[in-house]
Amino acid sequence: MSVTEIPSKVIVEERQGEAYAPFKNDANQYRKSFYIESYGCAMNFSDSEIVASILNGEGFGATRNTEDADLILINTCSIREKAEQTVRKRLTEFRKLKQSKPGLLIGVLGCMAERMKAKLLEDEKLVDIVVGPDAYRTLPVLVEEAGGGQKAVNVLLSREETYADISPVRLDSNGISAFVSIMRGCNNMCTFCVVPFTRGRERSRDAQSILKEVEQLHAQGFKEITLLGQNVDSYYYTARTGDEPVTFARLLEMVAQVSPEMRIRFSTSHPKDITEDVLLTMAKYHNICKYIHLPVQSGNTRILQLMNRTYTREWYLGKIDQIKRIMPDCAISSDIITGFCTETEEEHRDTLSVMEYSKFDYSYMFFYSERPGTLAQRRYADDVPEEVKKRRLQEIIEMQNRLSLESNQKDIGRTFEILIEGNSKKSDAHWAGRSSQNKMVIFPKTNDACKKGDYVHVKIDACNQATLFGKLVADQIHV
Ligand code: SAH
Ligand code: SF4
Ligand code: F3S
Repeated sequence: MSVTEIPSKVIVEERQGEAYAPFKNDANQYRKSFYIESYGCAMNFSDSEIVASILNGEGFGATRNTEDADLILINTCSIREKAEQTVRKRLTEFRKLKQSKPGLLIGVLGCMAERMKAKLLEDEKLVDIVVGPDAYRTLPVLVEEAGGGQKAVNVLLSREETYADISPVRLDSNGISAFVSIMRGCNNMCTFCVVPFTRGRERSRDAQSILKEVEQLHAQGFKEITLLGQNVDSYYYTARTGDEPVTFARLLEMVAQVSPEMRIRFSTSHPKDITEDVLLTMAKYHNICKYIHLPVQSGNTRILQLMNRTYTREWYLGKIDQIKRIMPDCAISSDIITGFCTETEEEHRDTLSVMEYSKFDYSYMFFYSERPGTLAQRRYADDVPEEVKKRRLQEIIEMQNRLSLESNQKDIGRTFEILIEGNSKKSDAHWAGRSSQNKMVIFPKTNDACKKGDYVHVKIDACNQATLFGKLVADQIHV
């Protein structure tokens, strides 16, 4: 989710892309079919929906089976070394398929395509097509070129591209929740991070096009949207010079007003940029979910400086206080990196104490993985031994497990409004849905009138560290 994944439980793994494709676009109505698999953050999953829309327009229907595909695409992530290793493994599997189906084309999209550029095609001969995140409009031409045996690469980054006019084809959707991209790129230059290099300069999407997309989703019966950007709080759009600029707080308000029945979420917030205006807007609208993903990365000011996060430990803690003051019931999650260059034991303990103070409801936790070309790779030695990084990560995970459990235990006896997302994974006799605070809630199907997409009230009677369990409070369903 960061733009991290939207956390539902404590995880330390990369988000794995599952084979997925839209159901409604029956591949039979198209001349050819494509298969797409996505890795990395929500932004990548959202981009795959734009790619699907572009390909649909060119006569390509989606398929769930690699065996049926004329074109296999993998939308890749470079954030940590492990993310790239996973992609490489997948690409070698796809190559085997190509041996039995010579016309099959294989394309790499996303951040690894941008980072590796033509290398993937020339040196490593792993693929036929390489397309960076800002060049998806040229995919049809590149497919054609690759089909004719040419090298097909476009990794140009853009200062303007937001794909504002493209209606994403919702892939593998539950029909309830959807991502809406509001901006692209990142200007922040955190020293550990590859994103500014793979995604280019920050740019905000036309506010009216965002509003239109949300209205369409509402008309299609969607009940929850997540506004996506690497740093949503720096959203800033002016249609014409002289017009009042749309800030993130204003955008949130506009989107929240589409319908009180539509939940609004967003990700990711940068601690340096989240404003009081945003917090007050969240507090003002019941349908803006009371949940903020506010990655701290480290709890130590010296390390934060080396990371170029531009805030201190005290600033971060001040933000936590401000959030809790304005919205006492707001859940907060974080991203944490252990073992960044030169991190000492004491500095690591500062991260543990920030976690304890902030009482994060969830965290995405990683040990530092040096990325080629980043400022940290050029400036600092990656000098914390791997076993130390991993031990510190383990300590962070244990702390988070305890905090998540304590946070969930506090909810026992309380009643929450839950949006039903579907059956529980473990049992068809139970519903699964989320609270405004983004906590997963499981409860038995005791009322036949309930269905996916309904809001219900559930009283919590048990929990573990990842999930709340409860019972439906009678007669409080609304659709
Ligand atoms: N825009 C988001 C982050 C996107 S990347 C933000 O500013 O918070 C998601 C997360 O991956 C980051 O928050 C960070 O915790 C982690 N990450 C990024 N680069 C990393 C690296 N080189 N090693 C380990 N973790 C990293
Ligand atoms: Fe990376 Fe920092 Fe931008 Fe997030 S804000 S994408 S961590 S450079
Ligand atoms: Fe996202 Fe990974 Fe790129 S986290 S922006 S897909 S490097």
